[in-house]
Amino acid sequence: MLDADEQIVSKTDLKGRITYANRAFMRICDYAEPELLGVQHNIVRHPDMPRGVFQMMWETLQAGQEFFGFVKNLTANGDHYWVFANVTPDREAGREVVGYFSVRRRPSARGVQAAARLYAEMLAAERGAGPARAMEASRALLAERLGGEAYERFVLALQLG
Ligand SMILES: Cc1cc2nc3c(=O)[nH]c(=O)nc-3n(C[C@H](O)[C@H](O)[C@H](O)COP(=O)(O)O)c2cc1C
Repeated sequence: MLDADEQIVSKTDLKGRITYANRAFMRICDYAEPELLGVQHNIVRHPDMPRGVFQMMWETLQAGQEFFGFVKNLTANGDHYWVFANVTPDREAGREVVGYFSVRRRPSARGVQAAARLYAEMLAAERGAGPARAMEASRALLAERLGGEAYERFVLALQLG
């Protein structure tokens, strides 16, 4: 469990391979540093997470913007943990993007509750639509649930509001 003032930090290269993990990350996900470095960040991907959330995250990052969201992750021994993540482009000397980093904090209880409900629906939409149309179905469902509100405002209100 994360303390209220504790943060899980990791960095990746442009392809999402882990280049840095802090101690809190290693403790919570139960991997040692050599098991993480150079490995794709989906090593902690939980099967309950809809693909649509990661698609949105990568779109946001590739547009040069930061992403906020609730994420359910898998530990090495099959447990899970929820975080509130802020993922940002990592710019060398403030210019060229050389990778990404993510700072995660303890999520609000109502944020986890809302995200778990929303993600279950997105996952069901993805499975129902089949691989070719999964993303379209997932994103359409998300847009419908947000009812015109921007995703970032939605998650920040759940975490901070
Ligand atoms: C800096 C950074 C941090 C990430 N952190 C996580 C994470 O904690 N959990 C996760 O499942 N994916 C994380 N991702 C996304 C993964 O790279 C990947 O897109 C996602 O797990 C979906 O994997 P898949 O496409 O193989 O299903 C992160 C990506 C970046 C760039």
